[in-house]
Amino acid sequence: MAQTLLIKNAAQVVTMAGHSERPAKRDAMRELTMIENGSVLVEDGKIKAVGTLADLEQQYQGLIAGAKVIDATGKTVTPGLIDPHTHLVHAGTRENEYVMRLKGQSYMEIMNAGGGIHATTRATMDADFDQLYEESKYRLDTFFQYGVTTVEAKSGYGLSLEHELKQLEVAAKLNEDHAMDIVSTFMGAHAVPIDERDNPEPFVRRVIDDMLPEMARRNLAKFNDVFCERGVFTPGQSRRILEAGKEYGLVPKIHADEIEPYGGAELAAEVGAISADHLLKASDEGIRKMAENDVMGVLLPGTAFFLMAEFADARKMIENGVPVALSTDANPGSSPTLSLQFIMNLGCLKMGMPPEEVLTAATINAAHAIDCADEIGSLEVGKQADIAIFDVPNYMMLSYNYGMNHIETVIKKGETVVADNNGRTHK
Ligand code: NIG
Ligand code: FE
Repeated sequence: MAQTLLIKNAAQVVTMAGHSERPAKRDAMRELTMIENGSVLVEDGKIKAVGTLADLEQQYQGLIAGAKVIDATGKTVTPGLIDPHTHLVHAGTRENEYVMRLKGQSYMEIMNAGGGIHATTRATMDADFDQLYEESKYRLDTFFQYGVTTVEAKSGYGLSLEHELKQLEVAAKLNEDHAMDIVSTFMGAHAVPIDERDNPEPFVRRVIDDMLPEMARRNLAKFNDVFCERGVFTPGQSRRILEAGKEYGLVPKIHADEIEPYGGAELAAEVGAISADHLLKASDEGIRKMAENDVMGVLLPGTAFFLMAEFADARKMIENGVPVALSTDANPGSSPTLSLQFIMNLGCLKMGMPPEEVLTAATINAAHAIDCADEIGSLEVGKQADIAIFDVPNYMMLSYNYGMNHIETVIKKGETVVADNNGRTHK
């Protein structure tokens, strides 16, 4: 069991309390619960108490006497950040395509010519378990260093039973071996294999008849995701795949309206998806339906940034009552980053979200997007002690300085996984 831990006297402890049952929406996304000069007491990997040091000392004198102490004077303490949409397990990089796009080719042109997702699929098929494990482990270590303590991880670079299984097995093994928590999503329907593009039906059938049942039988995924986009999977095919996953207890997610308006947001609402992700081109009707059906909008501004596309209309979504979460979409083609802090900057600068909203979106709402809000996403008594300590005196600075890493210390289930940031402190 982890040692009892006291984080004391932080300039701000932002708890995100009060939203474990339901995601924060509308104005509630901006109302942070904050303790100035606050402390957090951790016992057995869980949050024991949050308050001022005087409060905690009065109630837990004995526990505190034996605790390891982290002095957080002048620092900001938040729940560990949560990244609810990543393509964690894959092989290789695609900087060549980045250069092609800089010269004017589009993401979909490159994919249709056999690059894009197909290029990473080839690399991932060629990679063995150990290579994928090592590459993904590096990414998990980096996520920790940027303050992320739980990630969702999708398959989708296998496009066959064997290689989709391999990706999800790597995620499962890392979830066991690595301190990071990984929540897995099956995404067999990430692309139609290039040689079947003219006749996708047999592939759709393989996803439904072969892959989904096997993933479910092996208990390798919690969610089932589809890339619903013109030239990839139609709304009709996406619906069939998502409905089939439900039969096996896999909760739908959907890559929706990323490149074109295509009815993805509407479909998410109709199939009861837990989230619709991307939404750069979501229609007003889609947004309305998502709000009505409590579908989380997972926004990925790193993708719009990197594809040089228009950003999702976060303001419209929030004002219409869609709960919003933020994520890196970490992947080698459309968003090669592991910094959720940078994504928070983009949320502010490019989507008009104030710092309070981006923090909500990267913590408690992100937890809801992967159905984990009963355990993580806020600093509340009984929850898992996943905690980020930033070397800045207030939460606003997290999304003010950009392209910087403000993490000083990261605690996962009460254990220190990133320590002290080499003594560097913001002055
Ligand atoms: O979320 N849009 C589809 N899938 C990923 C990109 C995958 C890739 O380009 O490798 C995304 O943007
Ligand atoms: Fe994605």
